[in-house]
Amino acid sequence: MSLKKLALGASMLLALAAGTARADTVSVFCGATDYDLCVKAADAWKAKTGNEAKINKMPAQLDDAIPLYQQLLAAKSSDVDVLFLDVIWLGMFKNNLLDIKAMVPQAEQDAHFKSTLGAGDINGQLIALPAYMDVGLMFYRKDLLEKYGMQPPKTWDELAAQAKEIQDKERAAGSKDMWGYTWQAKSYEGLTCDAIELIASNGGGTIIADDGKVTIDNPAAAEAIEKAKGWIGTISPEGVLGYDEEASRAVFEAGNSVFHRNWPYVWGTSQGGGGPIVGKVGMMPLPVGKAGEKSSGCLGPMYFGVNKYSAKPELAAEFVRFITGPDMQKMRAIEGAYNPSISALYTDPDVLKKLPFLKDTQPAFADSATRPSGYTGTSYNRVSQAFYRAVHDMLTGDEDVKAGLTKLSARLEKLKESR
Ligand code: GLC
Repeated sequence: MSLKKLALGASMLLALAAGTARADTVSVFCGATDYDLCVKAADAWKAKTGNEAKINKMPAQLDDAIPLYQQLLAAKSSDVDVLFLDVIWLGMFKNNLLDIKAMVPQAEQDAHFKSTLGAGDINGQLIALPAYMDVGLMFYRKDLLEKYGMQPPKTWDELAAQAKEIQDKERAAGSKDMWGYTWQAKSYEGLTCDAIELIASNGGGTIIADDGKVTIDNPAAAEAIEKAKGWIGTISPEGVLGYDEEASRAVFEAGNSVFHRNWPYVWGTSQGGGGPIVGKVGMMPLPVGKAGEKSSGCLGPMYFGVNKYSAKPELAAEFVRFITGPDMQKMRAIEGAYNPSISALYTDPDVLKKLPFLKDTQPAFADSATRPSGYTGTSYNRVSQAFYRAVHDMLTGDEDVKAGLTKLSARLEKLKESR
């Protein structure tokens, strides 16, 4: 046999051993903000297994993917094998996700925070594995607070007062575009989060309680919304009424906002790219409405699950295990500041070096506010839509806050029952 033939034979054997001879491809949905990290995970999976994951970018605003998923799943389509899932969608899509419990070793399941894993474990079926934690946090300009001799605020009123003072003084000193506080008040799921944070931290509950009682029509909720309404045009630009996460982040990262509410990934984007606020940012749990209340960051972990109609369920489940496993969660944390759902990574020296704030986000997870998706199940989206549309109208002044909450409450009573 010639040397050339021998070499060819050896490389075929190697390829077989690596599994490339039966290499296959799965199609995966990934969020727009962490698309690049998903591509990295796919590259790592290919290097490890020889299999490919084709990553499809989801719409920039996550809830725009809901009708897309609904269509895909109603048609029992096998076009996409792996779905990226917001925690509030798990109840909505549970009947269309494959039970992967038997395919995921128990120790691998137990590595995740119990309650986070639990949200994907419905009626004994494991329909999704957590990829990372998300909780609403407050980012602030450490340099500006120091300049004006201020401590990070404990209450929303303190925040508003500091925001106003710094904004006015900075504008007078020449920073004409400076605003005190940027957040998300566009009519979409993000506003459900921002509003629930203000209301819950003011003692006003979380729209619908765990037992199904509609609680939204109460004075503490009205007070929180009135307060936020007063911020618009004074410490927050009118534009917040159209801002989602990315639009509001752009203002903060351009150096034009003292305080900014967003998810942990903003640590990565604001500190990573060499922009004007590198080294000038602090991060903390959200303020409270009243002394004695809890900081109530909206809880928003993200998951991956397998489409029940996938033609390659085993391979799809393997990819889900890989992308939600410790190596990829560590990569996401280090490269994008995504907070792991695997508890052991919170003491990992490489992760802590890059994300010193992790010690502050853990209490924020513990005190977080949960959206009422557990009780409302398949009707969650309609409930949330009714809530954020009503709150948006209250913030613009199109609807009186107290009367609006009474109307909303009656509507939610009906909607919650169609679950
Ligand atoms: C983040 C959260 C998600 C939430 C969304 C709102 O992606 O992880 O839970 O629904 O923001 O915009």
